[in-house]
Amino acid sequence: MELFDLHSHALPKIDDGARNSDVSLAMLREAGEQGVSLVALTPHYYSDRQSIDDFLMERDASFSHLKGKISEEGVKTPKLMLGAEVYLTRALSQRDDLERLCYDGTNLLLLELPYGEWGSWVYHEVEKIISHCALTVVLAHPERYVPMPWSFKKLEPFFGMRTILQINADSVLSATHTTKKLLRSGRPCVLGSDSHNTDHRANHMEEAAKTIEHRFGAEVLRDMEMIAKHKWGISVEN
Ligand SMILES: [Fe+2]
Repeated sequence: MELFDLHSHALPKIDDGARNSDVSLAMLREAGEQGVSLVALTPHYYSDRQSIDDFLMERDASFSHLKGKISEEGVKTPKLMLGAEVYLTRALSQRDDLERLCYDGTNLLLLELPYGEWGSWVYHEVEKIISHCALTVVLAHPERYVPMPWSFKKLEPFFGMRTILQINADSVLSATHTTKKLLRSGRPCVLGSDSHNTDHRANHMEEAAKTIEHRFGAEVLRDMEMIAKHKWGISVEN
C-alpha cells in the first residue's frame, strides 16, 4: 500500500503552514517515516489578495529555498509535487489562467470552499470551473464544511459534477459523521494530511490509512490509492 499526501502546507514561509525551512524538513521527515511516498505542497491561494503571477513567483522561491535546504542537509524526503489550495471566490471561474494553479502536470484544482452557509453562487462557480475551464475540481476536505449530519445535503450537488473528494487524515481519525458517510459513498476519494506543522496540525496519514482499512475495508483504501495514481499520474515505482 502506497500513501500519497495530496494536501499539505509544508512549503516554508508562504502561508500559515511551515514557519521556516527547518519546520518544512521536519514535516517532510515525518511524512516519510509514515510511509508517505509523495507529498503535494499546496499553499493557500486567495484570488482577492494576490495575482496568480505573484503567488507562483512566491511559491517557486519558497520551493527553491526548500530544495536547497534538502540537498544541503542531505535529507531523504518523499517525492514532492507543487500545487495550491485555491479558495473559492466569486468570479474565480472567469480567470483565464486557473490551470496554472493545478497540481503540476495535471488538470486537477484543489479547491477550498467557504465555511458557513453557501449561496447558489458556490455551486455555479464550481460548475463553471469544471465546464468552462475544463478542470477537475478536487474538493479540499468536504467533511469540514458539513459538521452536522443533517446538512450533508449541502454536498450532494457536487456529486453530479466532475469532482474528487480529498478527505483529511485528521477527519478520518476523529470519525466524523460526514467523513464516514463520504468514505462509504463509493465516490472518488483521496487522502491528504492538511498538515501545517509537526505539533497541533501534524501529519497523521499512516494512522488514517490504517483506520480506513480497519473500519471501511482494504478495498476503500486501495481505491483511494488507485485514484491518486491514475489521476495525479503518480508512477508505481515512486
Ligand atoms: Fe489546507
